Formats: sequence, structure tokens, C-alpha cells
Amino acid sequence: MTAEIRPGIHWVGSIEWTLKHFHSHELSIYRGTTYNSYLVVDDKIALIDTVKNTHLEEFLREVEKIVPVSKIDYLVVDHCEPDHGGSIPALLARNPNLKIVCSKGGQVSVNRHHPGITNLQVVKTGDSLSLGKRTLRFFEAQMLHWPDTMFSYCPEEKLLFSADAFGQHYAHANRFADQVDACELWEEAIKYFANILTPFCGQIVKKINEFSALNWPLEVICPAHGAIWRQDPMQIVKKYLEWSSGKAEPTAVVVFDSIWHGTERMAKAICRGLEAEGVTYRLYHAGVADLHDVMTQMLLARGLLIGGPTLNNNLMPSLAPYLEELRGLRFLNKIGAAFGTYGWSGEGVKRFEEALDKATIKVVQPGLRVQFAPNEDDLKTCEAFGREFARRIKEMAG
Ligand code: FEO
Repeated sequence: MTAEIRPGIHWVGSIEWTLKHFHSHELSIYRGTTYNSYLVVDDKIALIDTVKNTHLEEFLREVEKIVPVSKIDYLVVDHCEPDHGGSIPALLARNPNLKIVCSKGGQVSVNRHHPGITNLQVVKTGDSLSLGKRTLRFFEAQMLHWPDTMFSYCPEEKLLFSADAFGQHYAHANRFADQVDACELWEEAIKYFANILTPFCGQIVKKINEFSALNWPLEVICPAHGAIWRQDPMQIVKKYLEWSSGKAEPTAVVVFDSIWHGTERMAKAICRGLEAEGVTYRLYHAGVADLHDVMTQMLLARGLLIGGPTLNNNLMPSLAPYLEELRGLRFLNKIGAAFGTYGWSGEGVKRFEEALDKATIKVVQPGLRVQFAPNEDDLKTCEAFGREFARRIKEMAG
């Protein structure tokens, strides 16, 4: 299963074929994932990251196909979240002389996750480690997506180990992006970005610009999850800049829940209004949709229409995870509006608007409420509401 990326540089990770929820329930995944670890064999031997400890046995077997663990000189910890740092103690138990190389932030996370490790070498941007014919140069990439994150770059091979950045949750028997289905690859790359990296868009742009200023040419990008980019690796870097920019397509995401189909009829009438103005949309029932798929579409769309009935002076609980996720991810440059039915008190729409505001989604038109069940006139009003929102979407810069 190991794969040689360049002479002496090997993928020695593990494939998680059956996982459905990453990091407990932080993120849904449909195509499994990989924990990518890389071995650089030179006069000195360096291992770049480890794997989740559930895969330790398989990992050690792959490494030892190439070198005994006892012969590894350096473990470079680009990121210490347990899906990458989880096997550090087991490696140290087999090789107590292993020197751990990490960033200043990495020192904190290594010590907190694995107390008692003393054999640490802290590096900063521009520092390098000679392995013989090859070198590793380091670049601190804080908040892509943890304070500890750093990239390791091999100038002789123009190859970047990029930690979580540029990854995908995508289990595959092949290791390279040019060997897998492009639609699946990009679907997973977008979902990964939207759900993990969106809160750090500003930092992503800053770090990519800092890295570019170093003029370290790139021929291969080896992320910590998913496929390795060896053909036109800049394609994923350009996509990160695009996704970080806040620019989006003139489309809408419509999310609703409904008890007796009143809000559902409103949602569908609103969608007819969007369509009448030539704005395409995706319609999701909050109770059955996948939260993280909806967030992926939020990255790509300009606007969100969210609706539900008032329940107990509040919102239906099925909508709460969407509002919480939107608040945490803080998508850039989105507009929104709310709608819903009510029986007597009718606070639902106001609650939505408060939540949109907290998620930094600009509410661009007053919310729409209908008592109990929408009649034909109400549905015409919903269509007009959708048309108005479509016009606001089209007015936005692309
Ligand atoms: Fe793949 Fe942040 O761990």
C-alpha cells in the first residue's frame, strides 16, 4: 500500500474506508478518509506526521516495509491533532531517540496531548533541517487550521507537506489526485474547505501570500488527508484563494423545516420566485438534509433563505444546528432572509434574523410570516419575496 512519491519519499499513511463521522460528529463524510504520513529516506530519515492511533498497527507495518522504526531520526509534527499525532507515543516507545521537530505552537500541542516528551526541536519559518541530499524547510502556517500547523518543504524535490491544508476526506486505493475521479475529488475538497477552513479565510489568504513571497517552487503538494496533488498543484492553491475571497455564484440556499407543510409550501413558493428571476437554488428540509452538505453549498452560494414555524415561542430544534454551524463558520459576504408560519405568538422569524445577524449574514429584507397555513394570496406574496431576494443576489458583486 505504500507509494513512492519521489525517489526516497514515500506515503506511509492509513486509509479509513468506513468512517461516516469525522472527529466524532464534527463532520459527515461519505467517502472515508486517509491519514497521510510521509517518510523521507536520506542519510537521515524523517517521518512527517503519524496517523490516528486506531490505525497504528497498519501504519507501523507500512513504515517497516521501508525502514525499521528504530532507524528513524526525526518525526516532524506538522500538526498534532490526534488524527495525525495519535501514534506519537507508540513511535517513541519503539524509538526513544526519535527527535520531534515542531513549531512553537506545536510544542504546546505536543506537550498537552502527550505530556512528558522532552526530545523536541522547535523550528520557525525559514529554518531548515538537512537530511543529507535533501532538506526540509519549515513554514509556520498557524490557523490552517490550528495554531500548531506548519508546512514542511523539500526544495530539492519542490515538494510541500501541507498538513491539513489542501486535503480532502476521500479514501481511495490510489494516492494521487490525477488518478481519482475528478468530480468526487473536488466535491470532497470543497466540503473539506467549507466545513473546516472557512473560519480562517483571512489567515489562509495571508499565509498563501507569505508562502508565495518565499518563491519556493511547487511541483507536488502532499496534504495530511486524501489525494496528493502532483499535476498542476497550484490548482488547489488557486481554489483556496477563490473560496477564501467571499466571492460566490449568484445562487441561493433555501433551508426549512415544517410541521404541517405550511412553511414547506412557503419555501417552494419562494423558490418559484427565485426561479422567475433566473436565480438557481438548492432546497433543503432541515430534518432530513445533511448539515455539512448544506454548509458546503453555503460556501458556493451568495444567499440563504431560512424558514420554519414558530414553536414554543422559538424555532424548531431541527434548525438549531444549522444556525450554530453558520455562526461558527462565519461565511464571508452572504445575504439572508427568513420566513415561516406561526399560530399565535410568531417569534420564529425574529429568532432567525437574530441568528443570521450573529452569523454575520446580512438580512436584506424584512422576514415573511404567515399565520397557520398559507392561502393563494400568501403564496403569491412568498413568490414576490423570492423574486426580491433574487434581485438582491444579482446585485451583489460576483
Ligand atoms: Fe486532520 Fe486537524 O487534523
